[in-house]
Amino acid sequence: MPAKVALITGAARGIGFGIATCLAHKGVQIVIADMNGTAARKSAKQLAAATGVKTFGLACDISVRPQVESLVRKTIKHFGRIDILVNNAGICPFVDIMEMSGEMFKKTIDVNLHGAFHCTQLVAKEMIRGGRGGRIIFITSLAVNVSSAAQGDYAASKAGLHMLMKSFAIALGPKGITCNGVAPGMILTDMTRFHWEKPEPAAFVKQRVPVGRIGTPEDIGNAVALLCSDEAAYINGVGLIVDGGHQAVCA
Ligand SMILES: NC(=O)c1ccc[n+]([C@@H]2O[C@H](COP(=O)([O-])OP(=O)(O)OC[C@H]3O[C@@H](n4cnc5c(N)ncnc54)[C@H](O)[C@@H]3O)[C@@H](O)[C@H]2O)c1
Repeated sequence: MPAKVALITGAARGIGFGIATCLAHKGVQIVIADMNGTAARKSAKQLAAATGVKTFGLACDISVRPQVESLVRKTIKHFGRIDILVNNAGICPFVDIMEMSGEMFKKTIDVNLHGAFHCTQLVAKEMIRGGRGGRIIFITSLAVNVSSAAQGDYAASKAGLHMLMKSFAIALGPKGITCNGVAPGMILTDMTRFHWEKPEPAAFVKQRVPVGRIGTPEDIGNAVALLCSDEAAYINGVGLIVDGGHQAVCA
């Protein structure tokens, strides 16, 4: 049977690269799509060397629909199929909602919500054409349910993404394509490093996360691989929290 192909957005680094690594270890061929094309190509080469799977690195700003159309076209030309889409690319500017400009608010929604809409709609059309079903994962956040003054734009985009996931799950289920969300807790990446590497927040993590540590990109990658497995065929339209138990702890 030919190897499956996964297209992962924002996968040049961080959680996206962790997801790419976990899927590659399962023999899945990987397309790393990222706004930073140089980093995408470098990470794709690095992953191929480490795992032996075929990879392809491409530049794409997911908030620009023609760029997503080109990404899907190039992926199909290169690999001939797409079995898995992971909507991972996202931004979080951490600016107080009372200080934030309209342009910045719009940008977060454009990337985190519109970007996933473009990718899902265009990739799903290819999956339907291929007739083999598929798996689509939306990387959301605990911000689907909770927020802070510095995450108003982000929480709005991620709550919207959670409902977008459910709508696609309903539309695509009959075609054998499942859609699910993965909501990471506190994961150490370049997006959050400035915060969690300080002594106080690090102590907070130890206290408030029952497993006693901050999460890794591979923790999220393993959850995505689970939902992309054949055994997950009947899991559709749900959000899986992957946070070491953080959200279970009462304030
Ligand atoms: N790190 C965490 O604690 C955490 C927690 C919850 C959810 N998340 C979510 O996980 C995802 C990945 O986060 P991360 O921590 O790895 O972030 P990161 O900033 O380390 O990596 C994000 C990647 O996405 C790319 N990107 C940004 N905008 C893009 C665009 N318009 N088009 C294509 N690529 C783009 C960046 O170039 C970068 O390579 C995001 O959706 C984020 O909201 C992260």
